[in-house]
Amino acid sequence: MSSERLRIALTKGRLQDKSVELFEAMGLDCAPIKDPGRRLVHAIPNYPMDAVLAKAPDVITYVEHGVCDLGVVGKDTILEKGGAFYEVLDLNFGRCRFALAVKEGSDFYGTYKTRRIASKYPEVTRAFFEKKGMDVDIIKIEGSVELAPILELTDAIVDIVETGATLKANGLVPIETVAEVSARLIVNTASMKLHKAQITDFIEKCERELERRA
Ligand code: PRP
Repeated sequence: MSSERLRIALTKGRLQDKSVELFEAMGLDCAPIKDPGRRLVHAIPNYPMDAVLAKAPDVITYVEHGVCDLGVVGKDTILEKGGAFYEVLDLNFGRCRFALAVKEGSDFYGTYKTRRIASKYPEVTRAFFEKKGMDVDIIKIEGSVELAPILELTDAIVDIVETGATLKANGLVPIETVAEVSARLIVNTASMKLHKAQITDFIEKCERELERRA
């Protein structure tokens, strides 16, 4: 393996700890990522890789532009933002789903009027209803999307459901799964050629650990 270092972008928050857990199980020393202080770039001492922590859409931006060779990001962000990169592995953590949910007792399909849907993911929502050939009005919400049907702004929401507790607490029920979601390993297309040996080594390490867990 050459001495060049790879750079990986990790999604901050929910996926961060799971990514670190995976990398540690692969033998990577992640102490610098676990105790970041104010630093933004973390060198892994025993593997030729530097890690940066970023918000999910930024992980895709950095990988697409090739300033990071690899990234760990949720399928939810990939579906919403799209982009040109290789999605090489389902990392099998951060599992949840996109669901269409309505107020309990409401008949979403029982009307001919154009339905209004609230979502933080307008592109995922658009693609879902386009596939059904259904014309809907999509309203982008930035915060707690569950509020929109409660306030009667919309007939339904498309949102991430993990345990279902948030829907339940707000009198909403999921009526359809829009897509399954989990963390994915993505790779910049040029890096895949330029750093083939190093990237293959990393992917194989990930695969071995994922197989061990299966
Ligand atoms: C997500 C999602 C739901 C909640 C679902 O929000 O938007 O509100 O999790 O989880 P549950 O099914 O286990 O209740 P998150 O907490 O990620 O916050 P966000 O609004 O910043 O996306």
